[in-house]
Amino acid sequence: MEIFADTYDVEAIKELYDFGILDGVTTNPTILANSGRNYKEVLSDIASIIGDKMLCAQVVAKDCAGMMREANVLRKIAKNFVVKLPITPEGLKACQILKSEGTKVIATVCLSPSQALLAAKCGADYIAPYVGRLNNIGANGLDVVSSMQAIIDNYEYDTKILAASIKSVNDVIELTTMGVGAITTTPDIITSMYMHPLTNKSIVMFDEDWAKSGQVIE
Ligand code: G3P
Repeated sequence: MEIFADTYDVEAIKELYDFGILDGVTTNPTILANSGRNYKEVLSDIASIIGDKMLCAQVVAKDCAGMMREANVLRKIAKNFVVKLPITPEGLKACQILKSEGTKVIATVCLSPSQALLAAKCGADYIAPYVGRLNNIGANGLDVVSSMQAIIDNYEYDTKILAASIKSVNDVIELTTMGVGAITTTPDIITSMYMHPLTNKSIVMFDEDWAKSGQVIE
C-alpha cells in the first residue's frame, strides 16, 4: 500500500521521509491556504525534501481550459507531480488530456462508486474518496470505498484508490483488508501506526535486563 502524508508541514514530511515509508505528499486548496505561505514556496519546499516521490496539488479552475492552465503551472514544481482534478465533467476532460501528456492524475472529491467508475474509465491514476467526510454525513465511508474497489477489481482498471480523510489507524487497517492501493492521512495518524504500548514496555524491560548484565555489544 502506498502511503501519502496529507499536509503542508515540511518538518513532519521530513521526519516521515526519513522513516522511508512515504510514497508522496498530498495537499488540497485548504491545506495550502492554511500554511499561511505562498503555495509555490510551500510546494517547492516539499519537493526539495521528497525528491522523486509524488507531490500532489489540486487545480481550482472550474473549466477544462482553466484546469489545464493551472496544471501547467503546478506540474513544473516537482519531478513527479500529480495533478488533482475534481470529479466533474470538466475535470474528466482535463484528466484525459493530462494522461495523454504523460502527467499523473488524481480524481478527487470522488464520493460515490458511480463517480469512481467514470474516473477509472477516463484513465485517472488515482481516485480519492473521503472516508471521514462521508462518515460525517451519516454515510459509511469504508463501505463506499469497498464498492469502488470492487468496481476496479471487476473490470481490472489500472486506477488505484487513494483513500483520503482518514481519521484513525483502524480505518487504515480496514482499507488494507480491501486491497486499497493508497491512503493519505495526517502525519499524526501515520506515526500512530507504529506505536504500541507493549512495544515500548518490552524495549524498557530489555534495556533494564541488559543493563543488569553489565555487558556491552561491541
Ligand atoms: O485532501 C483531501 C482529504 O484528505 C481531506 O481530508 O481531513 O480535510 O476531511 P479532511
